[in-house]
Amino acid sequence: MARPRSTNKLILFLAASAAALLAAYLFWSFAADVEALLKHRMGASPSPSADTIVKVVKLFFVGIIGYLFVRALNSLFFGLAFQLKRIDAPTLIRNIFTIVAFTILFLIAFTFLFPGVNLGALFTTSAIFGVILGLALQDTLGNFFAGISLQADRPFQVGDVITVGAQRHTGVVEEISWRAIKIRTFTNHVVLIANSNAAKEPIEVCPRDNLNARIVLFNTLYTDSPAKTIHVVREAVREADNVSEKVAPIVRIRGLGDNGVDYEVKYWLVDYAKYNDTDALVRQRIWYAFRRAGLNFAFPTRTLYVERPERAAQRDGDGGAVVERLSAVDIFAPLSADETSMLAQAAVRHVFAPGETVIRAGDPGSSMFVVHKGRVTVQVSENGRPRTVATLNEGDFFGEMALFTGEPRTANVLALEETEVLEIGHAAMKRVFDTNPDLVESLSFIMAERRQGLASQTDDSAANTHSSAGILSAIKRFFGI
Ligand code: CMP
Repeated sequence: MARPRSTNKLILFLAASAAALLAAYLFWSFAADVEALLKHRMGASPSPSADTIVKVVKLFFVGIIGYLFVRALNSLFFGLAFQLKRIDAPTLIRNIFTIVAFTILFLIAFTFLFPGVNLGALFTTSAIFGVILGLALQDTLGNFFAGISLQADRPFQVGDVITVGAQRHTGVVEEISWRAIKIRTFTNHVVLIANSNAAKEPIEVCPRDNLNARIVLFNTLYTDSPAKTIHVVREAVREADNVSEKVAPIVRIRGLGDNGVDYEVKYWLVDYAKYNDTDALVRQRIWYAFRRAGLNFAFPTRTLYVERPERAAQRDGDGGAVVERLSAVDIFAPLSADETSMLAQAAVRHVFAPGETVIRAGDPGSSMFVVHKGRVTVQVSENGRPRTVATLNEGDFFGEMALFTGEPRTANVLALEETEVLEIGHAAMKRVFDTNPDLVESLSFIMAERRQGLASQTDDSAANTHSSAGILSAIKRFFGI
């Protein structure tokens, strides 16, 4: 069984410490002999003296042991802070601690071994030393201070997904050290971005504990209904793994393209770091949902329609279905098969999106409508607020009041879902009335009932003044029957 990495590191550390201590102990034990030997070998050579060489070697050993000691202190101190307070100190802070502690230890050892050397004077008087040091450390110090400002600002943290710079390196932040930001890209590469570069570049941050969104594009044929597409895709995407349940996906039309209707679906992720997989899953779900719902992706095609007038008439009339629908409408029940099919040919089909207005109160109107597919709501305005009077389903009709009396529309009619209506104009109704005068009577009853309904919802006194007999004579007058 493989040992954990931390155990290996500890063993290595203990072995290195033992070796360094042993080497230092041995050197210290034989320091006097080494010095004597050096003196003997070097003879009267003035500099460097054997004593200095021995001290430099001692300083070297002290340096190594000091470094190991500081590392141990670092692990103990920050490990304890994590254990007790759950504070996970950033790498940069740990590094600064190591550098400062080591420098202090080193300077103490130096002044102890070389009491005659004035370190302060050495640093302050040596201008050349300062220039060399400054030039050599220019980048390092730049990174160091940029790292400190990153830690202070905390624009992102370990685990966030970031995109940095013109080259748009994207990945999960693994570490922010005194020199660089380490990110792991989605192809499992490690990219190191120097802190000083990152400080100058724009950084796009997608925090780990934030609801980050993605946008996936798709398209459909122009013949596919937008309301249906939007519903089908929203439901398919919201159930995909890693798609947040907190916000429902948004599906919307992005444009009308050369090949079809272009859509986008915006969804929010639980774990943003997995956005590539989730985007792919979302596309897959859309494909299957399209298959089930009979929707089609638009691929680059060029379709030539050669339309002959009689074909167009056939398509618009959609023969059977419209005749069937109209013959099921109660007021048209007395019509003969020929009369119904004449009405069907005269009817014009219109499709409305959910929420769209079919009829607006106050507008003039010279046609009535039959709900072919979908549902509509009849609304009146009460103190400026819409109030629902009735909901009409497939086979119900509306818009007859203005058509038969010539008065303005009495209410708003809005599609509740994607709705297809059949519009029947004044001329077609007149032909029907001419051959079926009884129809006027049954219509006047329905209209009287509806007016009654309107009157109870509004304070419009004009609405309830019409009895069925009054309406009947109004229709007859208007149609010249
Ligand atoms: P019209 O006035 O032409 O336009 C609005 C339509 O709403 C109206 O014709 C009726 O067809 C319909 N309408 C009005 N009131 C009612 C109601 N109480 N019940 C059902 N439909 C109604």
